[in-house]
Amino acid sequence: MDRFRVTGGQRLAGEVRITGAKNSALKLMAAALLAEGTTVLEEAPRILDVEIMSELLRRLGCEVEGETTGTVRIDVPAAPRFEADYDLVRSMRASICVLGPLLARCGEVHVAYPGGDAIGSRGLDMHIEGLVKLGATVENSHGVLIAKAPKGLKGTTVWLDFPSVGATENILMAAVLAEGRTVIDNAAREPEIVDICAMLTEMGARIEGAGSSTLEIEGVDGLKPVRHRTVPDRIVACTFAVAAAMTLGDVTVRNAHPEHLEIALDKLTLAGAEVSHVRDGFRVVMDRRPKAVDVVTLPYPGFATDMQPFFAAMNSIAEGSAMITENLFEARFVFLQELLRLGASIRTDGHHAIVRGVEQLSGAPVLTADIRAGAGLVLAGLVADGDTTVSGVHHIDRGYTGLEVQLQSLGAKIFREPEPESTSRF
Ligand code: EPU
Repeated sequence: MDRFRVTGGQRLAGEVRITGAKNSALKLMAAALLAEGTTVLEEAPRILDVEIMSELLRRLGCEVEGETTGTVRIDVPAAPRFEADYDLVRSMRASICVLGPLLARCGEVHVAYPGGDAIGSRGLDMHIEGLVKLGATVENSHGVLIAKAPKGLKGTTVWLDFPSVGATENILMAAVLAEGRTVIDNAAREPEIVDICAMLTEMGARIEGAGSSTLEIEGVDGLKPVRHRTVPDRIVACTFAVAAAMTLGDVTVRNAHPEHLEIALDKLTLAGAEVSHVRDGFRVVMDRRPKAVDVVTLPYPGFATDMQPFFAAMNSIAEGSAMITENLFEARFVFLQELLRLGASIRTDGHHAIVRGVEQLSGAPVLTADIRAGAGLVLAGLVADGDTTVSGVHHIDRGYTGLEVQLQSLGAKIFREPEPESTSRF
């Protein structure tokens, strides 16, 4: 186990290049299951979750290579296996995204029920209801979700109660091979959904409405493998944008689509930063203490829940007070307790938190159990007085390609070191 040691006080300046989005790449890898043959994914992030997904695909009978290089080749057999075990699903909840494609491709799928994780209880009811509407039977047997559609899936209209990213993806990936027309209403609109629609369309799927809240899918008989470039990671891009603002820095983020994080960049402008679009990305320059900015998390195009911890960190040293409202994941405020260890002034009430900016945070040991909270704590460490150690770095590694290396290249003092052995028996 490693931890990060961050010594605060350095101004960040320079350029970083972002790779493809984790939350797209994992689903694109699952989408590869829909076609026999070799799918190649470019700009896949070199992160732990992509390695876990590669291992899952191997267990399903695929040959996978390149997962640590950024270009992943997935060779899918004519008849993939259709069982995803608990050991992998437990280590990466996103494994659930093989449900739709395997059901469509094999007529049957067994996926271990993932359970909750560090950011909260995360339901699957909409995934299941959507697949049932498409004609599948779904049962939970001894912790395993078993979906069957031996006679194939049939197009239908599915209403989602909430624009769930995962449910939209599973229903979409099942519907592309269903007989007839499927309409997904109140679908998620995230750039990663648009990316999956783009790849499925290249594979031969017929999809209209990508990026809107109504997806219309005309089922086809079969799909072909393709070569596809993953959409850039807007959450990672935002991490560096906020790092620039907090450290009164000047950072250019390359291979980023600023329009995918428009609200977050607008918030940084409100906080006092100068944000400009440059070729292939954007630049954030800050020359004053940030002003506190309210954030309310919502499905895209609202403010992303994954960016909330970065703004909590920024608000903790901002001028004034801000209200943060977390509408998606109830446990995402747990990390605020760690910010308190660094001297932040925060009060929470249900899904609201009031953050009163303090002049200076004070470095301390902190712990993360989640990717984005971990990145938020690193941001806080960058401006805290003295050393902050962030334990639980393996969580951060699930979503970032060498976060410390990229921050070092901008001038940050951050190092990876082994976690010391605990001296406590408890
Ligand atoms: N929900 C249900 N029932 C369902 C599906 C979702 O109640 O059937 C609830 C969830 O419990 C949650 C809300 O709906 O409260 C949103 O869940 P959603 O399905 O949209 O999220 P997800 O697909 O599980 C993805 C990302 C998350 C990101 C969310 C929201 C991946 C692998 N994960 O999760 O990213 O926070 O969308 O944008 O794509 C991360 O990258 O660190 C991360 C957690």
